[in-house]
Amino acid sequence: MQCTQILIVFSAVLLVCLASDRKLKEKTVSKPVRLITEEELEIYDGSQDGQPVYMAIKGVVFDVTKGKEFYGKGAPYNALVGKDSTRAVAKMSLDPEDLTHDTAGLTKEQLESLDRIFTGTYKAKYPIVGYTARHMLNEDGSPNKDFKPEDQPHFTLNDEL
Ligand code: HEM
Repeated sequence: MQCTQILIVFSAVLLVCLASDRKLKEKTVSKPVRLITEEELEIYDGSQDGQPVYMAIKGVVFDVTKGKEFYGKGAPYNALVGKDSTRAVAKMSLDPEDLTHDTAGLTKEQLESLDRIFTGTYKAKYPIVGYTARHMLNEDGSPNKDFKPEDQPHFTLNDEL
């Protein structure tokens, strides 16, 4: 009798463990964090019809394809895409020298404006597809322990195959 009870308890514990392990795997598989290199980002600059359009701000890569009227070939903000345009967005500038991730020397107001646009426009409107190396890694290539995904990328494993 005691042996049966032990067996039942053991089976229940095993089931709970297996279920939570599966849940963990499903979560990991359906929502991976993806690193997008600068070279890859350049491909998605709106120059090719039918290709998605990507743009990074603060190292977070957004799929801005649905904003083609802003970012597509010949559109007013096409210069911002295929790269990290953090500085340009912070300064509301399309000057080539501002088309960079570099935020050095920006004013408090520009940084606040950047965060407002980052959250109010980009995070609200466009799916996140990954992160640049600068956002995820340290300069020596080791993982940045402070990396926290802003959101989980909205792609499935199929997109990777
Ligand atoms: C005379 C100058 C400009 C005018 C009249 C203008 C006008 C506009 C308008 C009408 C929108 C659309 C708002 C909406 O429908 O949601 C917009 C969005 C935007 N503008 Fe400008 N703009 C100007 C300059 C700039 C510059 C220099 C930048 C440089 C970064 C810029 C960056 C943006 C961005 C990032 C958006 C958001 C696009 C989106 O929703 O994805 N704008 N602008």
